[in-house]
Amino acid sequence: MSTLSNLTLKIWRQAGPDAQGRFETHQIPEISDEASFLEMLDILNERLIEEGKEAVVFDHDCREGICGTCSLMIDGQAHGPSKGAATCQIHMRVFQSGDEIVIEPWRASAFPIIKDLMVDRAPLDRIVEAGGFITAPTGGAPDANLIPIPKPVADSSMDAAACIGCGACVAACPNAAASLFTSAKLAHLNLLPQGQAERFKRSEAMVETMDEHFGSCTNHGECEAACPKDISIDNIAVMNQDYRKAKFKNRSKLSRV
Ligand code: SF4
Ligand code: FES
Repeated sequence: MSTLSNLTLKIWRQAGPDAQGRFETHQIPEISDEASFLEMLDILNERLIEEGKEAVVFDHDCREGICGTCSLMIDGQAHGPSKGAATCQIHMRVFQSGDEIVIEPWRASAFPIIKDLMVDRAPLDRIVEAGGFITAPTGGAPDANLIPIPKPVADSSMDAAACIGCGACVAACPNAAASLFTSAKLAHLNLLPQGQAERFKRSEAMVETMDEHFGSCTNHGECEAACPKDISIDNIAVMNQDYRKAKFKNRSKLSRV
């Protein structure tokens, strides 16, 4: 374990959605390199509260890369410098003594700032809601061999299901598109036999809800680079295929595609 010294934080402060925002500078004289990035913010907040100042508002919950709430832009990178990690999984050892670290909220018009570093990511929920239910039987767990699924297909569906809905893909995209998120949510159901019954209805509803809130994908690929769960951009191609098929006139024949 070693100690980092003389860190300068430039943190975005904004009192509310319509208030004027500004960067505020804070010094961190010393911090263990084993501290997580969010623990560093906790320590700063304890100090601010002791000084009678307002703590910096930021979103977090699980602090282990599961919930997707820790949405911070660190030095211009969604979730910071570590590949395949959410903000809460970053440790201070990725920084150097004397570093200046710029911390901002996700920047996208679909994600209005609630306060400081916390944004409202509800439009992602609207997309999921538009997907509706799946026609899968409930009750006792069926025999695992009852529905044969090729392993690469099952793996691909599981990989897509790893999306934590953090919104980093939107924040990293120059168009603020939500295609990676939407395609991941579609793929984990659409690839499996159990997801076929509503596949085209779901694809149409979710893509059109996405288009109401977010920009269009122009294949920059920043989403894939920023994603803490390494969601593949291939899912976007599959989503676009399914959306096109969903627009066929004769849907009764769509189970053949
Ligand atoms: S696709 Fe990746 S970056 Fe986008 S919401 Fe899901 S986990 Fe986050
Ligand atoms: S706090 Fe849950 S993913 Fe970071």
